[in-house]
Amino acid sequence: MAVGTAVIGSLQFGYNTGVINAPQSIIEGFYNETWTNRYSESIPQNSLTTLWSISVAIFSVGGMLGSFSVGLFVNRFGRRNSMLMANVLAFVAAAFMGLSKLAASWETLIIGRFIVGLYSGLSTGFVPMYVGEISPTSLRGALGTLHQLGVVIVYLSLVQIFGIESIMGNASLWPLLLGFTAIPAVLQCVLLPFCPESPRYLLITCNEENKAQSVLTKLRGTEDVSADLQEMKEESQQMMREKTVTILELFRSPVYRQPIFIAIMLQLSQQLSGINAVFYYSTGIFERAGVAQPVYATIGAGVVNTAFTVVSLFVVERAGRRSLHLIGLLGMAGSAVLMTIALALLDQVKWMSYVSIIAIFCFVAFFEIGPGPIPWFIVAELFSQGPRPAAIAVAGFCNWSANFMVGMGFQYVEKLCGPYVFIIFTVLLLGFFAFTYFKVPETKGRTFDEIAAGFRQSAGQSSEKYSAPEELNTLGGADPPL
Ligand code: GLC
Repeated sequence: MAVGTAVIGSLQFGYNTGVINAPQSIIEGFYNETWTNRYSESIPQNSLTTLWSISVAIFSVGGMLGSFSVGLFVNRFGRRNSMLMANVLAFVAAAFMGLSKLAASWETLIIGRFIVGLYSGLSTGFVPMYVGEISPTSLRGALGTLHQLGVVIVYLSLVQIFGIESIMGNASLWPLLLGFTAIPAVLQCVLLPFCPESPRYLLITCNEENKAQSVLTKLRGTEDVSADLQEMKEESQQMMREKTVTILELFRSPVYRQPIFIAIMLQLSQQLSGINAVFYYSTGIFERAGVAQPVYATIGAGVVNTAFTVVSLFVVERAGRRSLHLIGLLGMAGSAVLMTIALALLDQVKWMSYVSIIAIFCFVAFFEIGPGPIPWFIVAELFSQGPRPAAIAVAGFCNWSANFMVGMGFQYVEKLCGPYVFIIFTVLLLGFFAFTYFKVPETKGRTFDEIAAGFRQSAGQSSEKYSAPEELNTLGGADPPL
């Protein structure tokens, strides 16, 4: 229940990423109408394009700011209460967006998108952190994947279905579609007070052992939580030797430099894989590929997306994060090549339009096997309690910034490169594959403390306790040296 309640925040992120794609032309109609009423002439095409781009992109700007601010909240108010408080933003944003038509003001809509971006940025930090901290080690990856499942379930299926004109994407109902973001916020506000605070926060950050123990007893469903407690205490002792870790120190300290570099690269591998180029512009890509009903192909991509996130959820604890991420990146690179061939030959060979659909579906499926879910939750795993909030803030900021860059830049690059645009992503994907192969350790089945100890050792600061020979060079059996 605690994980389910937390991922309502992920759901919001997904919903607001996708919600304005399908009703684009209708909302543009509203901009035109408002402009005409104000200035007694219809809106020039350039101004319309600018206003629309701002409405879409301001969400990511809010996301960047929100994700960067995660550290301001989580240690002061706790993980659960931070999530609870953030809902104020969701309500305010819903009001702004839902009332923009009534107010005859695109400014109101843009402000609403910015605020819901702030909320989503905070969520992409709060949720993986909370879920990682309350999960038992053996389920941390599977439960962590639920964040991504929350994102994709609504974003890629419901949103698209809602957005179809006959359902809600029409001139009278679109404000309601945007204002719907208040409903999950209500649900989360009702449920969160019944969810426990993170036991790691209680014990390691607040030094409240009794509370931590009673929360653990509830979460694990057993009285015997001594192993969990012991592991936290060890981490806590280790932490006493660390000062509070600021963002700057993450980069300065040799102990954190390597994991933060890995965390950033994994975020970049997710966004620069080109996944959002497909999602933001899929309808256009399908149209150019000559697909008769592009909206339905887009919905198909959403369904594939959701299905493969579920696959990842079930295999991540067996296969491990590293191998799934590698398979995903390589598969995406292969699909991108196939897509390029299909788009390039489209004029000569008619059935290439089908190949392009298959290529996009494969691209999406491989994304969800690894590069979709794993970067989000692995950052919480790569760091111990002290540096975790700062690390999650930096990683989230990089993710949102790269997302913004692809969202803004793709259209222009596509104009320049035509059907060969996905070659760029192929090269990037292969680069990230090599990086993951050589640098990313396996974190499956290891406690936070063991993972951090591995990095300390490789930075030459091993403590006696962790100097067992088999742990000196590797962080997990067959993985590469750190
Ligand atoms: C991940 C990405 C997000 C993307 C989504 C698609 O959550 O962070 O940018 O849109 O996956 O499934």
